[in-house]
Amino acid sequence: MNILITGGAGFIGSNHVRLLLDQSDDRIINLDLLTYAGNLENLAGLEDNPRYRFIKGDILDRALVRRIMTEENIQAVVHFAAESHVDRSVEGPEVFVRTNILGTEILLEEARRAEVDRFVMVSTDEVYGSLGAEGMFTEDTSLAPNSPYAASKASSDLMCRSFFKTFGFPVIITRCSNNYGPYQFPEKLIPLMIANALEDKNLPVYGDGQNVRDWLFVGDHCRAIDLVMRQGKVGEIYNIGGCNEMKNLELVELLVDKLGKSRDLITFVKDRPGHDLRYAIDAGKMMRELGWSPTVDFSTGLAQTVNWYLENRAWWEKIRTGQYQEYYNKMYGSEGRHDASMD
Ligand code: NAD
Ligand code: DAU
Repeated sequence: MNILITGGAGFIGSNHVRLLLDQSDDRIINLDLLTYAGNLENLAGLEDNPRYRFIKGDILDRALVRRIMTEENIQAVVHFAAESHVDRSVEGPEVFVRTNILGTEILLEEARRAEVDRFVMVSTDEVYGSLGAEGMFTEDTSLAPNSPYAASKASSDLMCRSFFKTFGFPVIITRCSNNYGPYQFPEKLIPLMIANALEDKNLPVYGDGQNVRDWLFVGDHCRAIDLVMRQGKVGEIYNIGGCNEMKNLELVELLVDKLGKSRDLITFVKDRPGHDLRYAIDAGKMMRELGWSPTVDFSTGLAQTVNWYLENRAWWEKIRTGQYQEYYNKMYGSEGRHDASMD
């Protein structure tokens, strides 16, 4: 099968590309704009794989998307590309609207035009809003997004729904809780805290640190998405979660202790505006209908993740110093060596 992965140079997308190349015979076309969050080092070693092609490009570039669909004879799309960071959406929502909503609409239209067999929309539990102390999100929970990021993802989900209802286009939506693992950009809680702690910098906990997230190892998320792509029912929504709730403060303390650093580094800072209190996913449908369950328990996954950041210090140091942006400009700028387009 020829699979178009969008956003395959990001955190989850790059883990997914690796999974597919390792465990399937599929041909993978990775379309990624290489925004600040896209990093080709996440895909190092795959360049010469004959089943893999990287295309630097924008999902908003309709002509490029159209050409890829037909020239590569795309049979399935797994759509990861997005602006993904809540704090950035508070600072500047517009790019979230363009990439997450219009970008998804363009992909849907061009995939429908090319008669693609499957379109998997990788969405998030944040579309459901926030929980109190009790309860879990099911696939039937009403949409109540609170951040511009969550609102843009909810909008793209609704666009997907409309393509199924109106055109019978074979879309499936997945909604996952917080991922952690290798290659996560160090603006997100776990890698930020690891990197700051290793550099003996303050660890900024928002508000009182009592907000709860449900953590899932990225490899388990990717396996779930792959199952959904191959065996999921079109027009359906599948929640994916780790059954692993933790308060932010407890998680940061755990990381500090694992790294042998002082808890005095923990600093309480001004809360995120509109900060959702608690997320918890009921992943029963994935388990019952597709036989999926998480395989990596949190202490194993967290230890693996901490080790990965310890062993790959150069990866995150380059990002934090901005060096990798210089590299992209060199490789992909007007003087660059890589052909970014398909011409
Ligand atoms: P990420 O920010 O690490 O990666 C996003 C990727 O999309 C980057 O490689 C970026 O270059 C690319 N991209 C951005 N705009 C683009 C455009 N216009 N055209 C082409 N490529 C573009 O994100 P992530 O954490 O890997 O998340 C991937 C997807 O999974 C997102 O859709 C996100 O909403 C969803 N999700 C993430 C989590 C999580 O915990 N990280 C949980 C649930 C769902
Ligand atoms: O739930 C799925 C979502 O998880 C995905 O859709 C998003 O793409 C992904 O970014 C993530 O969103 P969160 O906002 O939950 O993740 P983040 O890592 O930004 O924050 C996790 C929690 O930690 C949240 O309650 C805010 C808090 N936090 C975060 C940062 C970066 C802090 O206390 N301090 C920080 O410096």
